[in-house]
Amino acid sequence: MENYDVIVIGAGAAGMMCAIEAGRRGRSVLVIDHAKAPGEKIRISGGGRCNFTNTRTEPKNFLSANPKFAISALRRYRPTDFIALVDRHHIAWHEKTLGQLFCDDSARQIVAMLLEEMEAVGAQLRLETSVTAIDRTPEGFRLIAGGRTVTCTSLVLASGGKSIPKMGATGFAYEVAAKYGVPVVETRPALVPLTFDVSLLERLRTLAGVAVDARVSSGKTRFEEAMLFTHRGVSGPAILQISSYWREGGEIEIDMAPGTDVFELLREARRTSGKQAVATVLSRILPKSLANHIAVTGGAVGNIADANDALLRRLAGSVSAWRVKPVGSEGYRTAEVTLGGVDTDALDSRTMAVKAVPGLYFIGEAVDVTGWLGGYNFQWAWASGWCCGQAV
Ligand code: FDA
Repeated sequence: MENYDVIVIGAGAAGMMCAIEAGRRGRSVLVIDHAKAPGEKIRISGGGRCNFTNTRTEPKNFLSANPKFAISALRRYRPTDFIALVDRHHIAWHEKTLGQLFCDDSARQIVAMLLEEMEAVGAQLRLETSVTAIDRTPEGFRLIAGGRTVTCTSLVLASGGKSIPKMGATGFAYEVAAKYGVPVVETRPALVPLTFDVSLLERLRTLAGVAVDARVSSGKTRFEEAMLFTHRGVSGPAILQISSYWREGGEIEIDMAPGTDVFELLREARRTSGKQAVATVLSRILPKSLANHIAVTGGAVGNIADANDALLRRLAGSVSAWRVKPVGSEGYRTAEVTLGGVDTDALDSRTMAVKAVPGLYFIGEAVDVTGWLGGYNFQWAWASGWCCGQAV
């Protein structure tokens, strides 16, 4: 039988950060993961360059049944703390946009950095190991992992959410929560492309692959970023962002020329360039195929001089206030994160400890704290892992 102060299940962003901090405090730490390699989501994140934090991180960038829960951890471990760690390891980085920081070279550098830090504090890593039993003992927990019995005083669930099952994502943290009576807020795929019904897809067929800067709204929430038409519906940053707020049965509104008064633009063109086709005028502000699609489906096939105000207004509406009802999302198969998770009401916001079960902790994506696109989810993983590492 092997005994540890701390066992962390999940060698992802949150689990490795927790292991480093607990190890730094002199705790004996074992990290268990069923995957072949640690930090696989870090490796593939940010297109292979890992958007590892966001300098503008604020509580408002997160969704949770209790929006106040994340404040404490986000204050205690800030983007500047992670940047300092990255700098100590001489990893070059740059700001891409909107406070999003990426590695200049490779996301693998972040994984290597975390492994190096773990090794430096003596935290052990056991890969390709599944946990088949967890039981409470008077001192803490006893686990069967990879056929061996291991015990610990503190057990940390850092096994992430359900997104991308192909990469080894499981609902394991939720199962453990259920076993110990810890409530779980209903989960759903988030930061995920949205899908349209077949008849709409057929009408939009020629647009697959077309990208446009857009302002996308669901209720009072709106995001202004790029949007992409796909063979299944829509994707791109603006859509991924809004997917965390959209619910089945609801509409989204898409403005494909934010900041432009399209009706005025069309009227002005009618005055000054009457011989131009409507599609040509629209292509001043939209990709050509999209401009063409909007003109044709709007019935504006001739010169703009022939279009009356009512038609121009309709066309402007199609560009600036396209209301569309997605039928669903691409699901966990492609979702970047899982919305919902372990109910924060059950956790101590300073330590991530389950209030009712001494020695049990949940961190990272497994918890009902979900960030926007843009490095916020890793910042939550680092912050929650760091706080837990100070307590276990
Ligand atoms: P994470 O999922 O990283 O780690 C969980 C670990 O637990 C995994 O190693 C898994 O193998 C292991 N595990 C699961 N079940 C287990 C079990 N039953 N037994 C043992 N081990 C188990 N975020 C961001 O801020 N910036 C970005 O650039 C991106 N980019 C991005 C791209 C893509 C394609 C995806 C899918 C996601 C992102 N994200 C992101 C989101 C980010 O990857 C995510 O929020 C964090 O990885 C969550 O960290 P965790 O440590 O909580 O879980």
